[in-house]
Amino acid sequence: MLRDIRKQYLFSTLDEKSVLKNPFEQFEKWLQEAIESEQLEPTAMVLSTVDDQLQPHSRVVLLKEFTHESFVFYTNYEGHKAQQIAQNNRVSLVFFWPALERQVRIEGKVEKISEVLSNSYFESRPLDSQLGAWTSPQSMVIHSADFLEKQFQYYQQKFGNEVPKPPHWGGYAVKPHAIEFWQGRANRLHDRLLFIKESGDWTISRLAP
Ligand SMILES: Cc1cc2nc3c(=O)[nH]c(=O)nc-3n(C[C@H](O)[C@H](O)[C@H](O)COP(=O)(O)O)c2cc1C
Repeated sequence: MLRDIRKQYLFSTLDEKSVLKNPFEQFEKWLQEAIESEQLEPTAMVLSTVDDQLQPHSRVVLLKEFTHESFVFYTNYEGHKAQQIAQNNRVSLVFFWPALERQVRIEGKVEKISEVLSNSYFESRPLDSQLGAWTSPQSMVIHSADFLEKQFQYYQQKFGNEVPKPPHWGGYAVKPHAIEFWQGRANRLHDRLLFIKESGDWTISRLAP
């Protein structure tokens, strides 16, 4: 029974003394620990966007770059999420690292990164992924999986081993104004530390779980 699935979170704690005062440094520490924990897809994050009817949409994307300013993912600039971002640049991200009993929630504004940066990342991708970016008209209705196979072969023949970045593909950078770190604790008395950016400085508060 679903109602009988229950877990005590005993792995770790997070408090105001030990948390790093810069939330990006704290994120970097937890991300590194998530990578070292060898759980599947530690860089996977749920990206939520909101459309012009105020309907939220969520999906997983991969964090590909992280600076002490922004969280970068790559995608098609013509798909649903891109259309929603063009209408409303406020987004949220959620990381869930079950092996560490941790969640990080991020809220902020998103913008396209430069073509130079997108090109540089695109060039580092394996050939198949580069071709995949040309192959898929992301979010469009297609009539069979076979369509994608044919598109893939078409672009493979067209470009050979030198695949340029499609103009409709690139990165977005999420610049946060709020980052919350959640550490599971015993008896559901979880730790939640919320960083909010106010006039350029980050303040920390503890929230009830
Ligand atoms: C583990 C995982 C990683 C993914 N990474 C990406 C990604 O980095 N970029 C991307 O565009 N879609 C990625 N996807 C697919 C998206 O979840 C989504 O299906 C796609 O981007 C289309 O979303 P949209 O129609 O809302 O634009 C990933 C899905 C999963 C499950």
